[in-house]
Amino acid sequence: MASYPEGRIPRLRRRRMVEVVRQNRQLLWRDAARHAFELRPMLLDQFRHEDFRACRVLDVGTGGGRLAFVAAALGGHVTGVDLDRMKLQQARAYAGVKDVRHADFVWGDVEKTPYHEFSSEPFDFVISNLCMSPEIVWHASRGLRPGGKFIFCCHHGDHWKETRRGSRWAFYEDTMEDLLEENAFEIEFMGVDTIVAEFEELREVELFLRDETVRKWVEDGRWEELSDSFARGEKHLTQSYLIVKAHRLAHAAPLE
Ligand SMILES: C[S@@+](CC[C@H](N)C(=O)[O-])C[C@H]1O[C@@H](n2cnc3c(N)ncnc32)[C@H](O)[C@@H]1O
Repeated sequence: MASYPEGRIPRLRRRRMVEVVRQNRQLLWRDAARHAFELRPMLLDQFRHEDFRACRVLDVGTGGGRLAFVAAALGGHVTGVDLDRMKLQQARAYAGVKDVRHADFVWGDVEKTPYHEFSSEPFDFVISNLCMSPEIVWHASRGLRPGGKFIFCCHHGDHWKETRRGSRWAFYEDTMEDLLEENAFEIEFMGVDTIVAEFEELREVELFLRDETVRKWVEDGRWEELSDSFARGEKHLTQSYLIVKAHRLAHAAPLE
C-alpha cells in the first residue's frame, strides 16, 4: 500500500463529464472568410443570458476593446486590460467617439498582475476573447467574487492544426476542464465551434489570412508545413474555438 506524508494524501479525481456543444462547418474559403475574424456567435450567446447591469467586468487581453464594448452595451462597468498600448489607445478613442460610458482601458499584464489591482472590489465577470493561459485562469478565480462568472473564447487545440504547430493559447476540452476545476470553477457551458475552410490552391490562403499571419508563418516554418499539407491534397485550414462559461464556486476552500 502506498504511504503518503501526513496530510498529503492525494484526492481521487472525480471527473464530472461536461456536455460539450459542438458546431462543425465545412465552408468554401470565401464563405469562411466572411466571418472568420468576428467574435464567435457562440460566445456572444453566453453574454445574452447574463445580466451585466452595473456589474464590474474585467476584459483580459482586451486589444481594441471589442468584447469590452459588448459587455458595456449590456450595462456592465468594464475595465479592459492589455499589454499593447497602441491597442488600448484605439479602444479609448473608440469609446470616446461612440460615447461609451463605463469602459476604461488600462495597461497591465493579465498573467502577472493580481486582478484586485484593477478594481477595489472583486469582479462579477471576467471575460476574454483569444487571450488565455493557466495563469489567467488562476488570476480570474482569485479576482472574481464567489458566484462570479468567467466567460471566454480561446483557441481549441485543433486550431490551425494543418500547420502542425500547437499554440500555448490553445486548449483541448479536458485540459481546460481540469484547469477550471483546480481553480474552483464550475462549468456551466462548454462549446467547440469549428470551421474548416476549403481551398483549391495555396495562393488562396494568402487572401484568406491576414498579411501579418502569413508573414509570421513564413518566418516560423508553419507556411512550409501548410504547403506540404496542400501538396498531399489536404487543401483546408481549420479554425477551432473553445467557448466556456463557468462560475466561481461559493463554497470552495480558500485558494492560496
Ligand atoms: C488575439 S488578441 C485579442 C484581442 C481582443 N480580445 C479581441 O478579441 O479583439 C490578444 C490580445 O491579448 C493581449 N495580451 C497577450 N498577453 C497579454 C498579457 N499577458 N497581459 C495583457 N494582455 C495580453 C495582446 O496584446 C492582444 O491584444
